[in-house]
Amino acid sequence: MAVKAVLKIGNPFLRKIADSVETIDQTLRDGVVQDMLDTMAAENGAGIAAPQIGISLRIVIFGIETNPRYPDAEPVPLTILINPKIQLLTTETESLWEGCLSVPEYRGLVPRCKRIHYSGFNEMGEPISVEAEGFHARVVLHEVDHLDGILFPERIEDPSQFGMLKELEDAGIIPKVATKK
Ligand code: NI
Repeated sequence: MAVKAVLKIGNPFLRKIADSVETIDQTLRDGVVQDMLDTMAAENGAGIAAPQIGISLRIVIFGIETNPRYPDAEPVPLTILINPKIQLLTTETESLWEGCLSVPEYRGLVPRCKRIHYSGFNEMGEPISVEAEGFHARVVLHEVDHLDGILFPERIEDPSQFGMLKELEDAGIIPKVATKK
C-alpha cells in the first residue's frame, strides 16, 4: 500500500508497549501489514515491527533471502507474526553485530539466545509454531523486542562494542558489504 517513514531512536513512540491485535482481517492485511511489507522491502530490512512505522500493534515481519545487510545469514522464510509469544530453549547465547532500521548507520554487538520457540498467528489468522536458532532466532528476538519498547543498544553487554557501521567496516571489525543502508 505504502512505504512509511521509519521512526528513529529517540522517538518516545518506540518505547511504548504495543497493543495485542484483536482482529486479523482484510483491513489489517491491506493496511498495516502491507505497509510493513512495503517499508521493509524499500529499506532492505531483515525485519520490521509495527511500532517502527508508528502503529502500536503486536505485529512483526521478518525474512531473509539474500540480504546485503547480512551477507552471512542463512535464509529465513518471510513470516508475518501477530501477537508473538517467545520461549527461550537454552541459556546459551551468541553475540553478533546487529543493526536496526530505527538506529540507522550504527551497529552493536548483541548477545541473543541461540535457540527459541516462537508462536503466534499469521496474517490469515492461522497459528504459527516454530523452533528457530542462530540468525533466525536473533531476528525474531530483535523484532519482538520492538513490541516491548526495547531497541538493540539496550541489549549490548559491552558498551564499547557499539559504533558507526562505516567506521567498523573501515577498521575491519565488520565485513564491508555493498549497501548504503
Ligand atoms: Ni529493529
